[in-house]
Amino acid sequence: MAFVNIISNDKLKIIPDRKPNPQTKITYLRISITDRCNLKCFYCRPEDQEFIPREEILSYEDMTRFVKALTKFGLRSVRITGGEPLLRQDLDKFIQMLSNVEGIDDISLTTNGITLKKHAKQLKKAGLKRVNISIDSLKPELFYQITKGNLQDVIDGIIEAKKVGISPIKVNAVVIKGLNEDEAIDFVEFAKQYGVEVRFIEMMPIGQGHIDWKEDMVEPLERVKRKIEDKYGKLKPSSSIGSGAAKVYELDDGTKVGFITPITNPFCDNCSKLRLTVEGNIKLCLRTDEEIPAKDILKNGREEEIQQFIEKVVVAKEISNQNIQFNNYEFGECRRIMTSIGG
Ligand code: 5AD
Repeated sequence: MAFVNIISNDKLKIIPDRKPNPQTKITYLRISITDRCNLKCFYCRPEDQEFIPREEILSYEDMTRFVKALTKFGLRSVRITGGEPLLRQDLDKFIQMLSNVEGIDDISLTTNGITLKKHAKQLKKAGLKRVNISIDSLKPELFYQITKGNLQDVIDGIIEAKKVGISPIKVNAVVIKGLNEDEAIDFVEFAKQYGVEVRFIEMMPIGQGHIDWKEDMVEPLERVKRKIEDKYGKLKPSSSIGSGAAKVYELDDGTKVGFITPITNPFCDNCSKLRLTVEGNIKLCLRTDEEIPAKDILKNGREEEIQQFIEKVVVAKEISNQNIQFNNYEFGECRRIMTSIGG
């Protein structure tokens, strides 16, 4: 069972009894709606993953209550993640519920794309704006080796998402030295061909035993950028709708290429992101195990109680941000496996 070091209620009490700084905003929330996944990426989940029992999973209603309460602290963007979020029933209904929350104007999804072809139209209709799709290799055999899945299913999903007007579509590639770092140009060509944005990600030490992570697996993305510039000329800084974690550039033809560098160039300052885990804990940061249990209050709390609780969470986030900077952006213990965080 994944180890979860939850901030106990006792510890929650020692969060200073003060109001959050009025400047602190929580603009972006990632919600993991399932820890199940139909792929088996070697760096993301262990072979013998135990799933969280269904009855412990937060309901869409409770998740929506949390989203509503957070809009008072500036929340606008919600990203739905997993596991693989398309595996949970009635996702379109959840997207519809989120669309109806006043103040939420950006609903996105992170998916492995395997079953996207089947779902894209319905999701778009429910209010899904944009989608991130994970592809770590464009070589079908290597893709299979990494994921145990079929690359063509993902490409079919991209084609369908494009057809129904989900935009932008971003392809996320975790770059792993010795495995796929030679595919940078192929990814850019893929982005051009399919009209998607590609984003390269440095591999982070996350998961129980850090799931085989070794520092020498990290390919500093500065090198990937140089390779791309050698071929296409200097990249121009660009903007992209999103959480702000990626540094995004543009090629002459407008194709966007992003770099997410948690290892070589952390982007934690003023982080205004929270995560809600599948069993209803608030995760403050990927670099630590700190979580605040929220299920009971979301299920049973009155509106004012939920608001008060969220003020505490915002204070905890302020403290977490300070600690991370103080600790030089070290990755501490984040032993929860990635399939139950959702990226
Ligand atoms: N480091 C970086 N990215 C990761 N992802 C999963 N595990 C890691 C890790 N250790 C990525 C997935 C997917 C997104 C949800 O998070 O590949 O693109």
